Amino acid sequence: MEETNKNVLGDCFTSAMALTESGVPHVPTRYILPPSQRPVLSPSIGTGSINLPVIDLSFLHDPLLRPSVIHEIEMACKEFGFFQVTNHGISSSVVKDALDAATRFFDLPADEKMLLVSDDVHTPVRYGTSINHSTDSVHYWRDFIKHYSHPLSKWIDLWPSNPPCYKEKVGKYSEATHVLHKQLMEAISESLGLEKSYLQEEIEEGSQVMAVNCYPACPEPEIALGMPPHSDFSSLTILLQSSQGLQIKDKNNNWVCVPYIEGALIVQLGDQVEVMSNGVYKSVVHRVTVNKDVNRLSFASLHSLPMNKKISPAPQLVNEEKPAAYGDFSFNDFLEYISRNDLTKQRFIDTVKKNKF
Ligand code: OGA
Ligand code: NI
Repeated sequence: MEETNKNVLGDCFTSAMALTESGVPHVPTRYILPPSQRPVLSPSIGTGSINLPVIDLSFLHDPLLRPSVIHEIEMACKEFGFFQVTNHGISSSVVKDALDAATRFFDLPADEKMLLVSDDVHTPVRYGTSINHSTDSVHYWRDFIKHYSHPLSKWIDLWPSNPPCYKEKVGKYSEATHVLHKQLMEAISESLGLEKSYLQEEIEEGSQVMAVNCYPACPEPEIALGMPPHSDFSSLTILLQSSQGLQIKDKNNNWVCVPYIEGALIVQLGDQVEVMSNGVYKSVVHRVTVNKDVNRLSFASLHSLPMNKKISPAPQLVNEEKPAAYGDFSFNDFLEYISRNDLTKQRFIDTVKKNKF
């Protein structure tokens, strides 16, 4: 039996977790993807040969060795819009505690989680399933809690009060990712030939949305997905995963599995960096596969300029030969877009491009 709950809007809500716990042998029809959109799960097909970049950040703080790290970042951004980082300064206990708090949150009884349910993308703290359970034509095998996270003191009181450790543990991880994001944006600005301090204040005061995702074990992973192909609106997304599941699209339009590396964090370029760099860097298109055996957790920390602050191509990267290829947009513009449009039909970044053809 599916466990369903009425949400505040009165419509039915079934979490992926409830389906997994009930032991369904097949995914319900609404999760079944059209054949052309189904994932290839075998690691040997189209995914074997590519080595995705892993960058050791410890030398970022050494003035002599910093240029070589910046160069590695530049190469990774140009080739993939993606890299993993090690020695990133976030301790393994902070990471472990955050994952532990998230596990406990998703293990709570459905009624408790439903206290935070919302399909309004403007709600600062909200629990949900799929992308938007009330409008998705195909559903995705994913539950989530998303919350605004910076500045922490402004939002933390609205975060889940169960499990009792959630605020402290996830709060520590959020603060640590904010610091890391600042360091990475400095490096990315430098790699583009901009000042290290480019947009420093806006980045420091920027918004941060922590999407805590849970992808329960799925009975039919070959016909469903945890998230559809998309790019993030953010400047950067810092992603922590508990096991493999993320795939990115490479330049040849092949899906590449991102390996799980113990202790590493994933960095993905978002639409804000694509616009800021005037297209020198591109945001990475990614999707999430699910698997039969384990529940997978991820923390996607989406950083951006403040809610209403528009990002536009850096003037230093615009000239007669390379005119501005994008208009400007803010996080708020993105929210307006997704509240009215289906992201699986058209990417948001395509609406910001000047030449739409
Ligand atoms: C996201 C996202 C990837 C993952 O939340 O935007 O792409 O592995 N998550 O959960
Ligand atoms: Ni994403």
